[in-house]
Amino acid sequence: MHVPHVGRVEVGVSNVYKPGTGSRAVALDETQLLDTQRAFDSVAADYDGPRGNNELIQRMRLTLWDTVTGEVVPGSRLLDLGCGTGIDAAEFAQRGYQVVASDWSPQMVERTRMRADTIGLSSRVSAVHVGVHQLERIEGTFDGIYSNFGPLNCAPDLEAVANECARLLRPGGKLVFSVMGRVCPWELGYYALKGRFRRATVRATRGATAVGMNRHTIWTYYYLPREFYRAFAPHFSLASYRALSLFLPPPYLVDYYRRRRGWCDQLGKIDDRLGSLPLLRDMGDHFLIVMHRR
Ligand SMILES: C[S@@+](CC[C@H](N)C(=O)[O-])C[C@H]1O[C@@H](n2cnc3c(N)ncnc32)[C@H](O)[C@@H]1O
Repeated sequence: MHVPHVGRVEVGVSNVYKPGTGSRAVALDETQLLDTQRAFDSVAADYDGPRGNNELIQRMRLTLWDTVTGEVVPGSRLLDLGCGTGIDAAEFAQRGYQVVASDWSPQMVERTRMRADTIGLSSRVSAVHVGVHQLERIEGTFDGIYSNFGPLNCAPDLEAVANECARLLRPGGKLVFSVMGRVCPWELGYYALKGRFRRATVRATRGATAVGMNRHTIWTYYYLPREFYRAFAPHFSLASYRALSLFLPPPYLVDYYRRRRGWCDQLGKIDDRLGSLPLLRDMGDHFLIVMHRR
C-alpha cells in the first residue's frame, strides 16, 4: 500500500492483533474499519494522480500485471481485493479477463465503475462495495484473486480472508498479492535521518498501527512474507515471493526518483534482478507473493 503524505504521518499503536503469535485475530472494531474507509474515500478523487499512480507505483503495477497474466490465462475470472479506482481491473479487462473488483471504500468503487464505463468495458468489470472482511458476500468461483498495494494490510482477520479465498478459488487457482512488508531499508534510513525514529520503525509494530493519510487514519498491519503466508498455508502452497521497491525508493519518495532518474533506473534493474533472492525478497516497500490453491 502506498502511504503518501510523508510530511504528515502520525503514528499510533493499537495492539489489536499480533500476527505471528498463532492467536486468532481479534477484529479491528467497526470504528477503526470506518476510519480506514473514510481515509480512502477522502483520496479517491485524486488517487489516479501522483498519490496512487506515480512512476514508482506504475513500475510495481507492471510486475503484478505480468505476474497475474503469467499465472492465469486471459479470458479467466479474476477477483480484485481492494481495487481502488480500478486501474488494475481496467487493465485486466483490456487483457481479456472478467473481473469482479471489490473495495471497502464506496468512493473507490464508484471510480472503478466510472472507469469501466468510460473505457467501454463495463461488461467485463463488475465493481462491488465489499470489504475484505466481508468476502462471504461474494458468490461464484474464480480462477485467480489478486490484490495490489496493500489492501490486505488493512484486513482485520487474515485467516478469515484466506478461508474465503479458498472458498472462492477453484482448485489450482492462483493468488497474487502485493503487500506492505515489515523491512523497508529506505524508509528506515529516510525517517531516521530526519530524526523521526518512531515513524522510521512503524513497520516493526505488532498489531494494527494507525498510519495517517490526508488527516485520516488507516489501520495497518505490516507483515514479513512468512508471517503473511502462515495465514494461507492451510489451503495454499507458496509458489514464489519477491521484493518490490527494495533498491528503488518507496513511492512517496517519487521526487527523489524524478531528480535522479538515471540512477534510479539502474536501481530498478537491480530490483528486477535481485529482488527474488533469499533474504533480499524478505525486504522492500512491498513484497509480491504468489500462492496456489491446493
Ligand atoms: C493503496 S490503495 C490500493 C488500491 C488499488 N489496489 C491500487 O492498486 O491502486 C488500498 C485500497 O484498499 C482499500 N481497502 C482498505 N481497507 C479495506 C478493506 N477492509 N477491504 C477492502 N478494501 C480495503 C482502500 O479503500 C483502497 O482502495
